[in-house]
Amino acid sequence: MKSISLPCGRAVQFLQTVCPQKDAPTIVFAHGFPLDHSMWSGQLPLQQEASLLMLDLPGFGQSDPLPDDVSMRSFADDVADVVKQLRIAKVIFCGLSMGGYIGWEFANHHAELLEGLICCNTRADGDDETTARARKLAASQVLKVGTEPIALTMGGKLFSSATKAGNSALVEQTSGVIRQTAPQSIAQAQLAMAQRQDHVSLLSRIDCKVLVIGGADDTITPASAMREMCSQMSNGTFVEIPDAGHLSPAEKPADFNDAVRRWL
Ligand code: MLT
Repeated sequence: MKSISLPCGRAVQFLQTVCPQKDAPTIVFAHGFPLDHSMWSGQLPLQQEASLLMLDLPGFGQSDPLPDDVSMRSFADDVADVVKQLRIAKVIFCGLSMGGYIGWEFANHHAELLEGLICCNTRADGDDETTARARKLAASQVLKVGTEPIALTMGGKLFSSATKAGNSALVEQTSGVIRQTAPQSIAQAQLAMAQRQDHVSLLSRIDCKVLVIGGADDTITPASAMREMCSQMSNGTFVEIPDAGHLSPAEKPADFNDAVRRWL
């Protein structure tokens, strides 16, 4: 892992691979909530086709804790800052779920850095009142009782039944990452997601190429809703991965990587 300091002085950790091919694109990966860069381990074979930048977003993995006023926009600004400090002219932004919410902010505010967008298991609409209220409750709960309950419940929600039956190592490893995450980061990210902007009206204005990837067995962001979201973008390609849940890149890495390769 490498480290870079943001203007606020906090360090962001990232894993970087450089593609030997001249003019290969760079893909920057933004993980889901409340995970870290390790959820993209299955995408390391893409280093033959692209340079890869896999971040621990501020507050997650080995990166420094979050400031108090975090938002999807501030995460996107942090990613843009890392890209600029590394002197990368343009990137393909690949975000899963919360990483996808950050991707909309990146597309909206840092379009000059954007060569393409990969939206995995995510949505463009904001929270309704019930969801936002549940997030606020979850934020206060994690500060009181710690990460164990969320590590247990998310393990059940993130994966397809095929993954739960056949890949207990992935389920365990993911729960372990959640368990290790600072309760403060989980709480702040929940509150930031509850307040995130609705980006449905942005979809028709995105003019770079977009790949939308859904999991056929995803109950958090159903594939049918992602297909509909993709149809609102002028340059979108939709791929549904069979037997994958919400964590499709980790559950079905070969299918996921094939979809990215075909699209690249
Ligand atoms: C995620 O995987 O990042 C979460 O499901 C996002 C959310 O809670 O909306």
